[in-house]
Amino acid sequence: MARNDRFLKACRKEPVDCTPIWIMRQAGRYLEEYRDIRKEHSFLEMCKTPELAVEVTLQPIRRFELDAAIIFSDILLPLEQMGIGLEFSDGEGPVLLNPLRTAGDVERMRPLDPEQDLGYVLRALEMTCRELNGAVPLIGFTGAPFTLASYAIEGGGSRNYLATKTMMYSAPGTFRLLMEKLTDMVIAYLNAQIRHGAQAVQVFDSWVGTLSFVDYKEFVWPHMKRLFAGLDRTAPHIHFALGAAHLVELVSSAGGDVIGLDWRTPLDEAWQRVGFEKAVQGNLEPITLFGSEEHLRAAAKDVLARAGNRNGHVFNLGHGVFPGTPVDKVAMLVDFVHTESKRS
Ligand code: CP3
Repeated sequence: MARNDRFLKACRKEPVDCTPIWIMRQAGRYLEEYRDIRKEHSFLEMCKTPELAVEVTLQPIRRFELDAAIIFSDILLPLEQMGIGLEFSDGEGPVLLNPLRTAGDVERMRPLDPEQDLGYVLRALEMTCRELNGAVPLIGFTGAPFTLASYAIEGGGSRNYLATKTMMYSAPGTFRLLMEKLTDMVIAYLNAQIRHGAQAVQVFDSWVGTLSFVDYKEFVWPHMKRLFAGLDRTAPHIHFALGAAHLVELVSSAGGDVIGLDWRTPLDEAWQRVGFEKAVQGNLEPITLFGSEEHLRAAAKDVLARAGNRNGHVFNLGHGVFPGTPVDKVAMLVDFVHTESKRS
């Protein structure tokens, strides 16, 4: 059991002494101590060396009074193991070397055996748990099937998802098989992460906002429903979808104990659409950390006011923290959230 359990309590909608906060991408390039390690090692090397992954996971925990740690890893690592080939080139972001285009490509994807294929992540989870020694809970994560499918089909990031949507609309059986294989992978991988020490798990659906309501419902929702139904119930599930204000009800009904909201939707209105029986996470605009202190405090206060100290709010940014974010502002935000939300 974690000594600081306000994050897990909020995930379960239990009363807390103040609102918990963690920050998506809290381990990363905005931290000098991350950049120091990164000078010596490639990103993939860092992910695949448990000692380095543990160290980088703990860096933000040492610096800030965060209420949860998130394991240092990447959503694209399982794709590499399924045969799609992965490279990170500086400045260009991820590149998948063998993008999927045909039915044969999808049929050839091999299933993931988490213990065998991603043992380094599972070891990093175990080692991080030992190091944390119960100070704060540890979050595991994966990408959601659509986000991973779009990377696997496009071969990298994309503006219009032309190849992904072309497959959806012209070869729906192939697209469905791909989503089924990725859903099986996510279920096996997250359950393994929970077995190896993750006390909560987050599913990142970062690119699903590109889909219409109708297409999400037809091509994604059934897979997300099966995914969440297949997860071990001992750890809470966080379901984060980016740019998905038009999908909030569908995202919520697909599953997740906590629904992660991006910054575009006012939290009070989104929570109502999620349903107050669930917890929510979010949703400060990440770039407020680049603005004035006065504006940052006002924006954070607005998010807290919209949550109204209701049980079940996990404070976070509406997306990951950007490289170049001033570190003193992050410290200020963490303290501000705790102080401002103190329950009397
Ligand atoms: O939150 C955390 O601190 C845990 C670490 C984490 C990383 N990636 C580390 C990382 C998490 C949760 C992710 C998830 C991830 N990876 C997502 C979903 C979250 C989101 O932002 O929507 C996505 C889409 C990816 C794919 C990916 N990996 C991208 C787009 C990039 C950035 C490429 C670039 O150069 O800007 C990465 C690389 C990456 N993943 C870095 C980190 C710290 C930067 C690597 C470096 O040091 O160069």
